Amino acid sequence: MGSPTPPGRDRPATVIAPSILSADFAALGAAAAAMTAAGADALHVDAMDGHFVDNLTLGPPVVAALAAATSLPLDVHMMLSDPGAWVGRFAAAGAASLTFHLETCYADGGASYDAATPTRAMTDAELAAARSLCAKIRDAGVRVGVALRPATPVHDVAALVASGDVDMVLVMSVEPGFGGQSFMAGVLPKVAALRAAAAGGPGLAIQVDGGVSPDTVGAVATAGANCVVAGSAVFGAPDPPRVISILRAAVDDAASAAAAVPAAAVPTAVA
Ligand code: DX5
Ligand code: ZN
Repeated sequence: MGSPTPPGRDRPATVIAPSILSADFAALGAAAAAMTAAGADALHVDAMDGHFVDNLTLGPPVVAALAAATSLPLDVHMMLSDPGAWVGRFAAAGAASLTFHLETCYADGGASYDAATPTRAMTDAELAAARSLCAKIRDAGVRVGVALRPATPVHDVAALVASGDVDMVLVMSVEPGFGGQSFMAGVLPKVAALRAAAAGGPGLAIQVDGGVSPDTVGAVATAGANCVVAGSAVFGAPDPPRVISILRAAVDDAASAAAAVPAAAVPTAVA
């Protein structure tokens, strides 16, 4: 699986996905229409359960209402402790992609996650649980995304990508839960490692979410992301279309610059 890589680029098509977490929740239909007019490619929808993260947002009924209001693909980021329980309902509501957190597949459900310490490698049983969740999402007819919290290393998801189970990897550049946090540049080597590992194969969609703005998108794009989520930077701007076009130009420029670099110059290590 994966997404095709257009000629002259090193990665799939650019996707700018404003996060409706920063929109006016009393006017989501208007926000979706404004983002369509502003040139967005998708809408990022942050579903939080008050357990996996310390915030509570929305679920399938809101996704269904959005799906009726917009033709933009709905990219649902499931910050939920039991994502598998919600796959069918989000798919039926009209989600185009469903991204679950890899940490939820750990035997302890991710409870031992420590932002200050890289997470240990997954056991075979934990990886099998992640594979089965990927399959459940794909069987529901929806694109499969896997998200990594900032301290979660890349090797386990790289294994899922290599076996063709995953369409998109979401590298979080803030701890999930809230919009408007500061960008964590320390996660970018994970993006670079995933892009390098995907080189030569079917294109891998790599999304970066958290603190992305015109100031930080250059580093995100250079690292290899093709999909950028931005909440406060878009919805908080006086001119959202301008922000979206800046984000798009940064990713497009980096995609063509990287395609011009000889393959031997690209690092291949997966950390
Ligand atoms: C955070 C969410 C993000 C959030 C990003 O948990 O996953 O999608 O909306 O907001 P900004 O772009 O403001 O960091
Ligand atoms: Zn998100």
